[in-house]
Amino acid sequence: MKIVLSVAGAALALFLTIAMFGGAGWTHPPMANKQTGFRGTGMDLIRTRAGNEELAAANRAPAPADPADASGDKASAVYENVQVLGDLSAEQFNRVMVSITEWVAPQQGCTYCHSTENMASDELYQKRVARRMFQMTQHINSSWKENHVHEAGVTCYTCHRGNPVPANVWFDTPPPSAGKFIPRNNGQNLASANVGLTSLPYGIFDDYYSRKDTPQSYVRVNATTALPEAKSKPIQDAERTFAIMITMSQALGVNCTFCHNTRSVAQWDTSTPNRVHAWYGVQMVRDLNQDYMRPLTTTFPEARLGPTGDVAKISCATCHNGANKPLNGAKVIEPYPELAHPTTQVSLPVGEAKDPIPGTTTPTPKPPM
Ligand code: HEC
Ligand code: HEC
Ligand code: HEC
Ligand code: HEC
Repeated sequence: MKIVLSVAGAALALFLTIAMFGGAGWTHPPMANKQTGFRGTGMDLIRTRAGNEELAAANRAPAPADPADASGDKASAVYENVQVLGDLSAEQFNRVMVSITEWVAPQQGCTYCHSTENMASDELYQKRVARRMFQMTQHINSSWKENHVHEAGVTCYTCHRGNPVPANVWFDTPPPSAGKFIPRNNGQNLASANVGLTSLPYGIFDDYYSRKDTPQSYVRVNATTALPEAKSKPIQDAERTFAIMITMSQALGVNCTFCHNTRSVAQWDTSTPNRVHAWYGVQMVRDLNQDYMRPLTTTFPEARLGPTGDVAKISCATCHNGANKPLNGAKVIEPYPELAHPTTQVSLPVGEAKDPIPGTTTPTPKPPM
């Protein structure tokens, strides 16, 4: 009996071991690690070769449309209601229409944004949103070229990937106890997608990724003095920082040492250049949510709004989608120069944001070291 049991036990152990290594979620060699910091500091991006291939396949940029003839009548002369892209030739304009259909509404087609009776009509909200999206894309590729998107740039596809609503957007989280007899939860312990369904503080996105005036000190939690003093941070602030940092890492598919040397997480001069790049990313995300997304709230139908009546917003994951460089760093803007700079000033319906003045760029603050 004893022998039978031990043989069965050994067999079970063997099967479990095999199942453990063969099962989902296990990373097995061959590895494709990449050093991100000085030798011996343990700063490496740890990935498998198979994982890298999967990531690359999930982030491939579509082939650009063939260039169109720049001569001939301007779109503003040929069509009735062209406010942003009027300087293009009619042929170039049509090329953009075909491309955005492929990027944003490939299943729905032109009629996702256009009324079939009258192409010039602004009746559908999708068209009004898309016009503002043209301007937002131009703004990203000009104002944030130097400090974030560089030569790669972005097109509608960077965020939309063939969907009218990008896969990675976020909404403000409502307080769970509004009007009910529920103890104060201190803004945490609610499974919110914004913080990876952890019990960490869930309101953090609302503050960190959408209010331009959020004090920088919000995530700065490392003590600068040996003993606590009046300026010291409560421990809850560190939880918020952690909530932000894990979602930021997830959005880029990296670990903490992609940006920090964990010997001293706060110190800028031992951090990698990626941390400064990321800091500008935060400023850009705030800028886009504040000046482009929030002002579109009244343009969207109610069904598109979140639980507190707010519009879907952008975070790092909206563009990055799990990769440290969106679309594997492809230079997507090169074949679409019309999306690289602000072109026209448009007056928007009441309640919507003012437009960037063509040719101007928003000055960006330097990261406080
Ligand atoms: C994602 C939304 C969207 C899709 C899809 C779309 N368009 Fe457009 N279209 C717009 C916007 C926005 C404008 C106005 C551009 C501007 O103001 O510069 C416009 C303007 C036009 C105009 C000018 C109409 C006029 O007289 O003012 C034509 C023509 C046009 N689109 C054709 C097409 C065709 C053909 C397709 C399908 C291949 C298409 N569009 C798909 C958003 C879209
Ligand atoms: C930085 C990311 C980003 C870029 C770049 C971007 N969009 Fe969007 N877009 C969004 C977000 C976020 C929404 C809000 C999602 C929603 O519809 O609720 C949105 C919504 C839209 C909608 C409304 C869809 C719907 O049914 O609600 C249209 C149409 C659209 N975008 C067109 C475009 C076009 C055209 C471009 C390129 C000129 C573009 N977008 C570029 C992020 C982006
Ligand atoms: C993509 C780059 C990036 C990654 C990955 C990243 N961080 Fe950060 N981290 C930053 C930036 C940028 C700041 C400064 C933010 C600010 O000032 O608004 C920061 C700040 C911090 C701070 C506050 C430091 C201080 O001054 O008190 C802590 C703590 C921190 N990160 C921890 C982490 C942890 C833990 C991880 C992994 C889960 C992580 N970070 C991953 C970019 C990153
Ligand atoms: C509008 C789209 C967009 C958004 C939103 C965005 N990024 Fe990026 N990011 C890019 C592009 C494009 C690049 C590639 C630039 C290049 O090729 O040099 C990039 C590159 C980076 C890099 C350098 C990666 C490397 O391997 O060199 C870091 C770090 C980064 N982003 C962090 C962030 C963080 C953190 C956020 C959110 C706070 C963010 N980004 C939001 C478009 C975006």
